[in-house]
Amino acid sequence: MNNTEDSLEIANGIYWVGVIDWNLRDFHGYETPKGATYNAYLIIDEKITLIDTVKSQFAEEMIDRIKSIVDPATIDYVVSNHVEMDHSGSLPAVMEIAPNATIFATKRGKAGLCEYYTENGCESWDFETVETGTELDLGTRTLMFIETPMLHWPDSMQTYLKEDRILFSNDAFGQHISTSKRFDDEVDDVMDDAAIYYANILMPFGSRVLKYADQVTELGLEFNMIAPGHGIIWRKDPGRIIDAYVRWASAETVPKVPVIYDTMWGSTERMARAILEGVRSADIPVKLLDLHKNDWSMITKEVMEAPVIAIGSPTMNNNMLPSVAGYLSYLKGLRPKNKKVAIFGSFGWGGGAAKSMETELKAAGFEIIEPKVQAKFRPDKDSLEACRELGIRLAEEATSNQVI
Ligand code: FEO
Repeated sequence: MNNTEDSLEIANGIYWVGVIDWNLRDFHGYETPKGATYNAYLIIDEKITLIDTVKSQFAEEMIDRIKSIVDPATIDYVVSNHVEMDHSGSLPAVMEIAPNATIFATKRGKAGLCEYYTENGCESWDFETVETGTELDLGTRTLMFIETPMLHWPDSMQTYLKEDRILFSNDAFGQHISTSKRFDDEVDDVMDDAAIYYANILMPFGSRVLKYADQVTELGLEFNMIAPGHGIIWRKDPGRIIDAYVRWASAETVPKVPVIYDTMWGSTERMARAILEGVRSADIPVKLLDLHKNDWSMITKEVMEAPVIAIGSPTMNNNMLPSVAGYLSYLKGLRPKNKKVAIFGSFGWGGGAAKSMETELKAAGFEIIEPKVQAKFRPDKDSLEACRELGIRLAEEATSNQVI
């Protein structure tokens, strides 16, 4: 196996030709403190095949990697597993160099590419649409396509290289990390990074994930590698990432309590710390998560894994703080399942934050734990004791409300 600066041969005649976006810190609202990669793969066979591309600003880098292996003008086939521009952005550059290449995509994939790349001459590109089970002969190898609608867009699909048992899974099974390593057994914390990625991208589509897992079983697929569109490649017992997806999609939780809040002059933070003390006294893991000091993507993983959370905000202008409102709007879109929530916070005179948080959290599908704990101006001894008691109750909920 070769490992040059330009490309990496991940299996005989199969190369990673993607790019590493070391400094990406925000992926359309998903904070990416570790950066990201956009993975593209090149298969050298009788038909030279490129699987996915990279963001448009990295087209030259990807094409240089391809050039280190083969003349890009000789690419016969381009597989577009997904329209989203982090995977298709360099497709126009590839089609300019290899204008006779055939693009393989789902019906919706073709439609999406043509709508987005009209000005790049998409109507002149040669497309073949594929569906689950469609096979493509590369000479000595065979690709099989698997439609994966809503994992995570309607057009999404995956590509399975039958002889080598490699699944090119596009967005599914990815992680947003930038590293010079390419395999799961070369990096630490990869399952945690995969959980953060799942929580922030795939959590709304749990029922689709479960159907997908059944489909993999029905098709009898076995894997030597699962090569996603982001992050590292799974080669050490690759099925473990599918098992993890099934657990997350089943809303499986562990007993712990994230205490999430923002504070204005420290009163809501005092309440959060008292709740934390209560949870800790019951010997249940707890985390204090200030919305200004933690990445929302990481907080969301904590929410996904916990059966119960606490969320607090002081009142400002009869409402919750904008940071809390923004996070609840983000969380609502991700549709977490089977969660309970306790609401707390301080107010100066009229209040209002607790009510507006309740409205948003109900809309996000949470069951509200009553009573909400509120304190006027600065929490006194009784208010802090109520918070500690709430923490103890949340610890009990965390053990009894677990989904395993
Ligand atoms: Fe749905 Fe990695 O794009």
